[in-house]
Amino acid sequence: AKLLVLHGPNLNLLGEREPEIYGRTTLAEIDAELRGIADTAGHELDSLQSNAEHVLVDRIQAARSDGTAVILINPAAFTHTSVALRDALAAVEIPFYEIHLSNPHAREPFRHASYFSDLAVGVIAGLGPAGYRCALDAALRRLAATRA
Ligand code: DQA
Repeated sequence: AKLLVLHGPNLNLLGEREPEIYGRTTLAEIDAELRGIADTAGHELDSLQSNAEHVLVDRIQAARSDGTAVILINPAAFTHTSVALRDALAAVEIPFYEIHLSNPHAREPFRHASYFSDLAVGVIAGLGPAGYRCALDAALRRLAATRA
């Protein structure tokens, strides 16, 4: 199956950005690891990072017709602001997992609300880069179960 990983604004700076909060692992390292795991399981994984809301909306819309079976998304700051991204995910009806490196609930009050969590299959927060691996593992199990 095809899996899509989406990373929101400022996650291109991962590794150097507030490392005490987000760690030292780079986005390229995270993507490479996820791709390796998906490959080994016989799946195809595409990933995209953008600082622009419309680029992420366009990619989600494209996923409707390119056979994407599941989406893993860290909407980053758009978590707390983007009705447009929420609507795009609702429109394409592709199951998705919401991932955060940090635990937004333990941070500023404006990070406590998410436009995504009530639509997500699952939400993972506070586990650092391991959260992406956990979400991918859950997505692969769900794919296997829904195809059986
Ligand atoms: C984040 C949490 C968000 O509140 C923040 O705006 C980010 C990253 C995380 O992965 O912990 O950019 O999504």
